[in-house]
Amino acid sequence: MNIILLGPPGAGKGTQAARLVNERGMAQLSTGDMLRAARDAGTPMGLKVSAIMKAGELVSDEIVDGLIGDKLDSMPVAQGAIFDGYPRTAAQAVSLDDLLAARARKLDAVIELAVDEDALVDRITGRYTCAKCGAGYHDRYKLPKVSDVCDVCGSTEFSRRPDDNAETVRTRMAEYRAKTAPILPIYEARGLLRKIDGMADIGIVSAAIEAILGPIP
Ligand code: AP5
Ligand code: ZN
Repeated sequence: MNIILLGPPGAGKGTQAARLVNERGMAQLSTGDMLRAARDAGTPMGLKVSAIMKAGELVSDEIVDGLIGDKLDSMPVAQGAIFDGYPRTAAQAVSLDDLLAARARKLDAVIELAVDEDALVDRITGRYTCAKCGAGYHDRYKLPKVSDVCDVCGSTEFSRRPDDNAETVRTRMAEYRAKTAPILPIYEARGLLRKIDGMADIGIVSAAIEAILGPIP
């Protein structure tokens, strides 16, 4: 099964993808995570995209298409893929079709997490992750069980993304509205789009996704 999780910054794409990885053994293909890894490793591509990401703008279609193609090539064909943060432009949507077709895969569903943008600023600026294992937390919605200790690995080091500030979030939202939202009607016309309420509690959003995906084969 191959699915896209689509929604603006902070809609909960990464949160839901992580659960699908754990419960369904699918692979999460997050272009944001791949770009951050390249940036942190200081590769030439990573250095090139660093300032663009910090400003909240989109990096080139060519770079992200390449990252997705490479990741798909490294996965068993039988393993399901969750596209998280990709495609983000009409051109990327076309590339994804080509990348899938070339690997005998097809798109099964595009799940739109519909959200209230004002609430998203709060979600994003409160977000932080474990610096060691990457587990995600939030100042208000998801604190570690023991204060300042990661539930997963016990580390006490946490970090915040440089693009998770109120000003950059506004640019990221504007990019979503201008370049990403226009791809929704394309998938709707193909009968692939499923819209769910991304403002509900995390568990309720998960249940809505499960209802779309159906029983684990
Ligand atoms: P990317 O990493 O993809 O960021 P994004 O789309 O801005 O998405 P986020 O990671 O901010 O949000 P999310 O929807 O995953 O929310 P999350 O689950 O963390 O991209 C970053 C940058 O990379 C881009 O700006 C661009 O520069 C570049 N880039 C990436 N892909 C690209 C592409 N294809 N083309 C061009 N450029 C690209 O949730 C947020 C918080 O809310 C968390 O704290 C979570 O705990 C909490 N939360 C989640 N769900 C709920 C809920 N239901 N209720 C309450 N709280 C919730
Ligand atoms: Zn951890």
